[in-house]
Amino acid sequence: MERLERIRKLLKAHGQEHLLMKYDELDQEAQVRLLDAIESIDFDLMDKLFQKSTEPVIEEQLIIGPIGHLDKEKMLKFECKMYEEYGEAIIRKGKLAVVTMAGGQGTRLGFNGPKGAFVFDPESGKSIFEALTDTMKDACKRYDVDIPWYIMTSKENNEATKDFFEQHHYFGYPGKIQFFIQGELPMLSLDGKILLDKDYQIKFAANGHGGTLLSMEKSGVIKDMKANGIGWVSINGVDNVLVQPVDPLFIGLAVKRRSKGAIKSIAKASPEERVGVICRKNGRVGVVEYTEISNQMANLRDKNGNLVYGDAYALFNLFSIEGLDMISNVPLPYHVAVKKADYIDENGNFIKASKPNAKKFEQFIFDIFELFSEVCVLRVRREDEFAPIKNATGEDSPETALELYRKYMSKNK
Ligand code: UD1
Repeated sequence: MERLERIRKLLKAHGQEHLLMKYDELDQEAQVRLLDAIESIDFDLMDKLFQKSTEPVIEEQLIIGPIGHLDKEKMLKFECKMYEEYGEAIIRKGKLAVVTMAGGQGTRLGFNGPKGAFVFDPESGKSIFEALTDTMKDACKRYDVDIPWYIMTSKENNEATKDFFEQHHYFGYPGKIQFFIQGELPMLSLDGKILLDKDYQIKFAANGHGGTLLSMEKSGVIKDMKANGIGWVSINGVDNVLVQPVDPLFIGLAVKRRSKGAIKSIAKASPEERVGVICRKNGRVGVVEYTEISNQMANLRDKNGNLVYGDAYALFNLFSIEGLDMISNVPLPYHVAVKKADYIDENGNFIKASKPNAKKFEQFIFDIFELFSEVCVLRVRREDEFAPIKNATGEDSPETALELYRKYMSKNK
């Protein structure tokens, strides 16, 4: 009773009393679940995020400029060899860990399950997770080491992801695969009310892959890595079937340049391609997301006709463990997106979304790079490392990814 009263007061102070409107009608287990969920919410943060999302966007005093990159294809042989040897020694000594960010919902793909479980090659029955495991297995074999692999899931897909790996006997991966769950935040109505789901529980959504580091810190992953002598962590998205997370040259380069972070880029295919671009933001390395880039910036070309902002961000991130440690508790900015969400309104009515009606707040992992003074950017060949699966059909779909994957395999296997 005392707990309930305390929570009622808290809700009143933040104008969110509706969250308990059906409390008395819930069974005991659901009541406890609801109270636990309410207590997990940082209401001050939600108030701030909502307030900020209603204010007119004031153009930040950002000085944006192009970035230089090292092009893997143009590097001299001896240079490549030197970096590769450095990186290889680190991998062989078991000092590299890989993190796959698989907490996204995969809404655009229209697949009802963890995105990694999606079968992109119907002929062989190969799923995205199997393709990623194949790449990881090859690396373990090549460098004679069991590379620790961490998979970040969301509350929504954690069980299903773990079950999928278990059912497939972890695809024979020789090393340890560990799962950790990313954070989440409640979704808000356009007027700032926390949304309730059909079952009268809070409607949460994943807080973006920028929450990866904090989740790694909170779930003990960073501690575990340190205890196991990990020096470098490669963090990648789940939706690229050609991702190469174990890359000695990339690691060697970061080590030699004393960078705490490094990013791989690929040449942006056209001004319209829906990829973030790597650039300088107030002198630091940052990314302007495709949803936020101006037409002028996207189309700017140099005197040779190349895109000035032509380094596409493809979710290849590398961090030193000291770098991760330094920044895992630093708050990143939140980006707001308005999405479609069905919910129960304050009067108890079920609202079926017909248009975007809910605010979702996300942090982006690439905003971390702005916290470092030195970040290497290595440009790699698209056909060797980038076959994303984003949409059900058309561009960046299972069909386009499969074609790229098969081409790569026929050349490299
Ligand atoms: C992303 C990049 C974009 C890049 C493109 C290349 C962001 C914000 N944008 O776009 O700059 O050019 O990929 O393919 O990353 N994820 C989580 N938890 C979340 C949200 C996402 O783990 O809360 C994971 C997804 O599972 C996926 C990856 O992050 O692996 C990308 O997520 P998504 O939000 O779909 O970004 P894109 O629009 O694909």
